[in-house]
Order: sequence, then C-alpha cells, then structure tokens
Amino acid sequence: MRLLTSYATVMVSGTKIAAEIGISRSEVWRLVQQLRELGVEIAGRPATGYQLRAMPDLLLPEILAPLVQGTIFSKHIHHYYKIGSTNTAAMEAAGAGAAEGSVFVAEEQTAGRGRGANLWHSVRSAGIYCSVLLRPALAPSDVLVLTLVSGLAVHSAVQEIDPRVKVDLKWPNDVLIAGKKVCGILTEMHAEVTRVKHLVVGIGINVNQASFPPELASIATSLRMATGTEWSRVELCGALLKSLDREYRNLLEDPEARESVLQRFQQRSSSVQGRQVRIEDDAGLEGVTEGLDARGFLQVRTAQGLRTILSGTVVLR
Ligand code: BTN
Repeated sequence: MRLLTSYATVMVSGTKIAAEIGISRSEVWRLVQQLRELGVEIAGRPATGYQLRAMPDLLLPEILAPLVQGTIFSKHIHHYYKIGSTNTAAMEAAGAGAAEGSVFVAEEQTAGRGRGANLWHSVRSAGIYCSVLLRPALAPSDVLVLTLVSGLAVHSAVQEIDPRVKVDLKWPNDVLIAGKKVCGILTEMHAEVTRVKHLVVGIGINVNQASFPPELASIATSLRMATGTEWSRVELCGALLKSLDREYRNLLEDPEARESVLQRFQQRSSSVQGRQVRIEDDAGLEGVTEGLDARGFLQVRTAQGLRTILSGTVVLR
C-alpha cells in the first residue's frame, strides 16, 4: 500500500514492487489480491504492473498522519489489517514505554472488547477501531472525565462531517443515534493509588456497516444506516483525533475545562437529566436521573434518596 500510494499516478511494475519490498512477484500478486478483498481499488495485473485507482479508505499512518498534524496523535500511528484488540495492543505497548499520543488502529479485530465481558463486533473495514495511549497527571478517581471527553470528541467529529445527524450521549461511554448504539468507548488504566501511570481510551465507531447480526440488530446502528450514505472512515478518524486532542489539552491546561466538559456532556445527552433508569449490576437500583456530580458520576433520585452511580450499566426505561 505504501509503495502504491507513493507512485499514485503511475503504473508500478510487479518486478519493481517485488524488489523494493524484498518478496517474489507471485507474492506481490497475492498481496494485491488481498488488498482488493479489503476494498482497495487497484488496476492492473502481473504482466502490466499495478496502479491505485483511488485513495483507499484505509486508516494507514501515511494517510491519517497528515490529517492530524500538530496534534499529540501525529507521530506514532500503528496500523493493523487484523488484530485481536487495539486496546490490548495499546496497553501492552504502554507497559513497554510507548509514547503518550500513540494511536493503534485496525481494519478488523478478532477479539474486540467492550465493557464488562462484552465483545465488540469488529468486522473488516466497516468500523473505526481505535485506541489511544495517554499519560495524564491525574488521580484514578478523576479519570471518568476522560471517557466523557472522548464521547464529546466523537459527538463533535460526527457533527463536523454531517451536522444533520442527531447524536445523543449516554452516560458514561455510549454514543447513540435514534436510541441505537453507534459508538462505544472502553477506557482502561494502569494506576497506583494516587496516580495514573497510563491510560488507554478505546473507541469503536460503527461507520459503514449495512446490517448487524440478529442479536445486535435491535440495539446497534451505523452512520451509514442512519444517514443512507457511505462515510469516509479516514475523514471521520482524522476529525475524531483532532477533536480529542483539543479536548485533552484543554483539560490538562485550563482549570475550568472540567466544568465545561460536564456541562457540554449534559447538554448533549437526553438521558442524564429527568430520565427514568435502572442500573444493572447495582442491585437493580431504579430512579430518575439528576445530572452529573463534580467528578462526572451520574446522580439518580431513588425512593431511598439521591444515589451516585459509580459503575454499572444504565438501562433507559
Ligand atoms: C463498549 O461499548 O462496551 C465499549 C466498546 C469499545 C470498543 C473499542 S474498538 C477499539 C478498542 N479495542 C477494543 O478491543 N475495544 C475498543
């Protein structure tokens, strides 16, 4: 891909590609076929050479990095055609000393993880599967705000590309369109009692899926299903990383940013205020939402009084 991108306007012979990457011509043919299966439009055959027909919608560092220039995410973008989980890769790299701002993106995940024991449906080249590594000087109890910030970043990236889409944030880590999930966020951290050592924010966005398996069909949607058009994953991922960079820097630099995050999250969520909810994994607690507290935890008015929800899944009634 790298080679074809750099020779974008000319036919490159199979022999040249083979020599430059140190493989045989038949292996070049096999790779070209694999890229075609991924949806990359490549003209040509072994006898004529190969040429890219259009810039592919692959989340390659060469394509993504120029879009996020000047952000903390431009320098270390790791791309995988297939991986177990980008969050696992990012957590391992973090433990081995990878730089803050490292990005791990995949075309496909074979073991994409959601919150709890859930799996994240991660079919090839349809969604964005992206994890970023951060090393904020925060106490573990202050980290929730980063999940909220990530939801806001997804919200503004989608709106930047199509302001007509009505995006709704669901506390703490879901993004919905018309009540169905279009994005989930999984924040994982390695921390001492008073200090975060590193943190990985994993973002899964359903972009161009045309349908979902029966068990997800009633709860999941994609941007394509919601709008009727295909989206550029590259453009959306670029907008997302830029927005996340802005929000993250602001949070670290401006003492008032946290309050603004909480306010904006509440404005963009139809369910954090005045909504009847049940909290799964918390003895089935039920009540009406009453906004977020100063750290970003959800408050729920129950028959026994005001409760602060620290964990668990919010089920909207
Ligand atoms: C959830 O809604 O439960 C969170 C889903 C998070 C999915 C993303 S996809 C990229 C990253 N890698 C993973 O294995 N999970 C996150």
